[in-house]
Amino acid sequence: MLLAVPDEGVPYVRLDQAAEDRGCEVGIVQLDRDIGIAFSHSPHHPGFLIRANCVVCGWRWSRFVSGGTRSAVDSWIEYWDAQSDMGDGAWRKNAELFLEGSASLFPFGPEDRVLDIGSGPGFLAESIRGRVRAVHCVDTSRRYIEQGRQRLADAPNVTFSLLGEDYLDFSFLGSERFSRIVCASVIQYFKSVDEVERLIAEVRGHALPGALLLIADVPVQQHILRDLAGLLRTAWRRDYLWKVLRFTARSLRGDYARLRKTRGLLALRPEQLEACAARLGLRGEWSAAPLTLNDARRHFLIRF
Ligand SMILES: C[S@@+](CC[C@H](N)C(=O)[O-])C[C@H]1O[C@@H](n2cnc3c(N)ncnc32)[C@H](O)[C@@H]1O
Repeated sequence: MLLAVPDEGVPYVRLDQAAEDRGCEVGIVQLDRDIGIAFSHSPHHPGFLIRANCVVCGWRWSRFVSGGTRSAVDSWIEYWDAQSDMGDGAWRKNAELFLEGSASLFPFGPEDRVLDIGSGPGFLAESIRGRVRAVHCVDTSRRYIEQGRQRLADAPNVTFSLLGEDYLDFSFLGSERFSRIVCASVIQYFKSVDEVERLIAEVRGHALPGALLLIADVPVQQHILRDLAGLLRTAWRRDYLWKVLRFTARSLRGDYARLRKTRGLLALRPEQLEACAARLGLRGEWSAAPLTLNDARRHFLIRF
């Protein structure tokens, strides 16, 4: 079977003979950036990872096809939507650390309805789905939302929604209300402090009385090296330093570093976040509990 890969310099890809030998039907009707195709991690080895699966038996097929040119990502939204040069395994680890560290600050119980903003591929939802009533994951990355939907297709209490161009418009949630709202490692990709304030205002409209909003993993260290030290310290303590070094080396050369220079990461002083809450008539408290991959980060908790 021949599949076209549009506009990227790799005109056709032949699906593995193994699929035909198995008599599998390949479940791709359309092959484009949104479905089943991801770019190579490395700018030195441009290419595509094509994924397909059998619609009948679920058999998965993947093949790396080198060639083509990778169009440069130009915003943080595009960055997270493309294959990130950091790899995605880190977010599974982040979810583990979060659960371990957040038990007293941000506990989950059987009645909780959780909104995870910037959920990535839904690793937190995967870990807590058996402990809470429902989890709604929202993210700007179509790739992550699709991955999450596929991985958690058997979890009726987990929902995924793709955020639109105005990622601060949560009106699609309708009358849905939540008791736990988490936004971890996300606001640094916002354009301004005003956007953070709008986020808080927006989620307030979807918070149940007494709900908790946790804005976690806020990079409050003004110097990048101090922030980086927090990442290395956690990795050293947790015995995965070599992985973090590899991931850091990749991100220093790749799109992440380029975007950090051209678009910047939102640097927030703690008092700016406190002021956002105060303008909305809310009070937040800071926690330095190690909740994520970086123990230099701080977490802001608001109780509605
Ligand atoms: C560093 S990952 C964190 C993933 C997950 N929250 C965790 O803690 O492991 C950042 C996530 O934020 C998402 N993101 C970036 N900008 C966003 C925005 N404006 N609104 C919602 N999600 C966003 C990215 O697509 C990505 O999934």
